[in-house]
Amino acid sequence: MRSNLCAAIFFLSQVVLTTQTTVIKIGHIYYFEAERAVMQMAYEDMKEQNLLPDVYEIQVITRMGCASYNASLPIIFGVKEATDLYFKENVKVFFGSPCSEEAVVIGQMAATVNWNIPLIGYLASDDTLTNKAIYSTLVRTGVVSQNFFAQAVTFLVQKNGWKKVAYVGSDALGSTLNRQAIVPSLTSAGVTVYQMVIPLSSTWQSVANSKAIVDLKANARVVFIMLNSEMNASVPFMAAAHSLGYTEDPDFIFIIISSQSNFASRPWDSNYDGMSYSYLREAYEGAYIIRVTGQDFATVKKFRQRLLASQQYTNPIGNDAQIIPMYDAVVLFLTALNRSWADTRNESLYANGAVMFDYMKNVVYQGFSGKVFINNNGDRIPSYEFVLLPKQVDRAYTVLMSIDATRLNGCDPVAKGNLCYPYNITVTDDYRSVIWPPDHPICGYRHELCDNTLYYVLGGTLMAAAIGIAVIFYAVRKRKQRLIYLMPWQVPLDSIKMLSSGTVV
Ligand SMILES: *[C@@H]1O[C@H](CO)[C@@H](O)[C@H](O)[C@H]1NC(C)=O
Ligand SMILES: *[C@@H]1O[C@H](CO)[C@@H](O)[C@H](O)[C@H]1NC(C)=O
Ligand SMILES: *[C@@H]1O[C@H](CO)[C@@H](O)[C@H](O)[C@H]1NC(C)=O
Ligand SMILES: *[C@@H]1O[C@H](CO)[C@@H](O)[C@H](O)[C@H]1NC(C)=O
Ligand SMILES: *[C@@H]1O[C@H](CO)[C@@H](O)[C@H](O)[C@H]1NC(C)=O
Repeated sequence: MRSNLCAAIFFLSQVVLTTQTTVIKIGHIYYFEAERAVMQMAYEDMKEQNLLPDVYEIQVITRMGCASYNASLPIIFGVKEATDLYFKENVKVFFGSPCSEEAVVIGQMAATVNWNIPLIGYLASDDTLTNKAIYSTLVRTGVVSQNFFAQAVTFLVQKNGWKKVAYVGSDALGSTLNRQAIVPSLTSAGVTVYQMVIPLSSTWQSVANSKAIVDLKANARVVFIMLNSEMNASVPFMAAAHSLGYTEDPDFIFIIISSQSNFASRPWDSNYDGMSYSYLREAYEGAYIIRVTGQDFATVKKFRQRLLASQQYTNPIGNDAQIIPMYDAVVLFLTALNRSWADTRNESLYANGAVMFDYMKNVVYQGFSGKVFINNNGDRIPSYEFVLLPKQVDRAYTVLMSIDATRLNGCDPVAKGNLCYPYNITVTDDYRSVIWPPDHPICGYRHELCDNTLYYVLGGTLMAAAIGIAVIFYAVRKRKQRLIYLMPWQVPLDSIKMLSSGTVV
């Protein structure tokens, strides 16, 4: 059986059977090999911090899932594996699947009265999973929520007072989901959105020659770009815009939406289609990025190095950004386990999905890349940063605005729910010094309001009219004078003689 080949069972710690311990069997439906190494690393770290009560040992059984992304696996294979783990391996806690297609099914099984087991997600981002009437035992530590991203972008647009923007997306799934969340969010905030959708495989030449990019200029100056989750996916568009002279200064505002940075610290660092480094850099200078906090390249790199040092694991796919939340998922479960044990001293309570959900929601804890806020739905609230790529030699990012998850002091989520988690939006001095070009140019998108030919025509007409009037006026006056001279009663002064009698002759 292929499933047996894929199955890997490992103990996360040496079982020292001096006292009676409870073995917690965790089923893990994974996609990326790296997830398993991350789970191990997080567990070892937490054990070092004494987060695991002595009464427990943990055993993880992993199975491959995400069949929709692997042609050699039958449809929703991960769901079949989860069922198998539950019934045959007696697994009482689940991590995964990372893929929404499987998570939506596993989540329903985990929540049934018969199962009622905790399920911890870290990558599945489908917004339907927020529905706790169905997924009542599911918590998630992932940061790829399109709904939260849409909120962050809408805050930014409103804060800057923009009424019209463009969204440049692609046919990639990540871009489509992002667009489907952001566009309605902006529209309902009264912002008009011009959409341009291009194939992800577009070259910069094909974009530059497209009618779409000409129409874009005729419709917007504030442009959001999200061709895929990595910021360098924006290269074909940015290079095309640059070649057409669409510049950040003084006209356009380009804002790249980036949900992770696995590859490069600067979008122009990758060698693209023989384009010179400096040309590509110019295309980006002065552009902005709105990104998920903790998914920047520096943090991802730190994580990658930790994984190598701890597990001797080099991630060949290089998708470390996606798996950072797996670490935070392990911390969340172990923290809840530690608390539930301290509260109840009931060794089997960890398997109660409804109870553990209550322990895992409405918590704030330290994750790999900072504070993690889990709201009343058991969903993580990602934080965002709005940064500038300045025109400087060192080209360091400048943070302009932070959109941070918070929890209000003294707010009771039982009464107020997610209202206890408003975003804390703060701007820096650098933000205050930015002078934004207008979202609607003074001369109109097509320069129609200040059209020069119109000026010349109008100006010419007016000038001609003025000259005409002057000429006519002069002619009329001259003619009048001439007429006066010709008047029969006109008497020259020197012909007047004064008579003594005083009568004029
Ligand atoms: C785990 O729970 C105990 C109480 O049982 C507590 O003293 C300890 O600080 C907790 N560990 C961590 C790392 O929070
Ligand atoms: C697809 O599944 C097979 C098992 O059938 C596995 O050997 C292979 O590594 C998987 N491919 C990817 C890209 O995960
Ligand atoms: C982005 O960078 C990665 C890794 O260097 C590369 O594989 C990919 O082709 C780049 N994308 C673009 C559009 O340049
Ligand atoms: C411990 O928790 C389990 C699972 O929720 C429950 O069935 C059992 O009754 C609890 N035991 C005690 C002594 O409360
Ligand atoms: C909001 O963020 C600012 C700046 O980081 C901080 O000083 C302030 O305390 C935060 N407010 C809340 C409610 O967390």
